[in-house]
Amino acid sequence: MQLLDISYSLDTIDVAAGRFWEVAKDFRIITFSGDLGAGKTTFISSLCNHLHVEDAVSSPTFALINQYGFAADGGEDVIFHLDWYRLRDTSEAINAGMEDCLDQARAGAAYCFVEWPEKAQDLLRSPYLAVFISTTGPEDRSMIVNQV
Ligand SMILES: Nc1ncnc2c1ncn2[C@@H]1O[C@H](COP(=O)(O)OP(=O)(O)OP(=O)(O)O)[C@@H](O)[C@H]1O
Ligand SMILES: [Mg+2]
Repeated sequence: MQLLDISYSLDTIDVAAGRFWEVAKDFRIITFSGDLGAGKTTFISSLCNHLHVEDAVSSPTFALINQYGFAADGGEDVIFHLDWYRLRDTSEAINAGMEDCLDQARAGAAYCFVEWPEKAQDLLRSPYLAVFISTTGPEDRSMIVNQV
């Protein structure tokens, strides 16, 4: 089911992140799809800014897992920012600790923001939120958000 369809530029990305969170906040697992350089990390960074994340947000390209803390309604909460681009398959993802992160999210103890979910799609099961970002101009992006 489609929950959101928005367009934004770098100038309006913070407004987009706020609107996004209104529909996304009940989902503990959120995947971000889009070509290389589409803006997955940039949007997650803006979203983390919106959530007043205390840590520096960067692409987990080499570490594969970044962990951030933020103050949520119910107290301290955790975001796992996962990048599956360099993973070959599901078993590599499990060995890298991805399933542990997802399990924590399913238990309500963390959020998982996943870039390149296609690399280990088998680890994902309903309910989660699937975000698709596409480039429509040098600084223009469109985003579709589906509930899965
Ligand atoms: N509206 C926009 N939203 C996001 N990024 C934008 C936008 N306009 C321009 N950009 C630029 O596009 C680039 C997006 O890079 P980013 O690392 O976020 O992409 P990515 O989808 O995470 O790529 P990768 O697949 O390598 O992880 C940045 O240089 C950013 O400044
Ligand atoms: Mg990225």
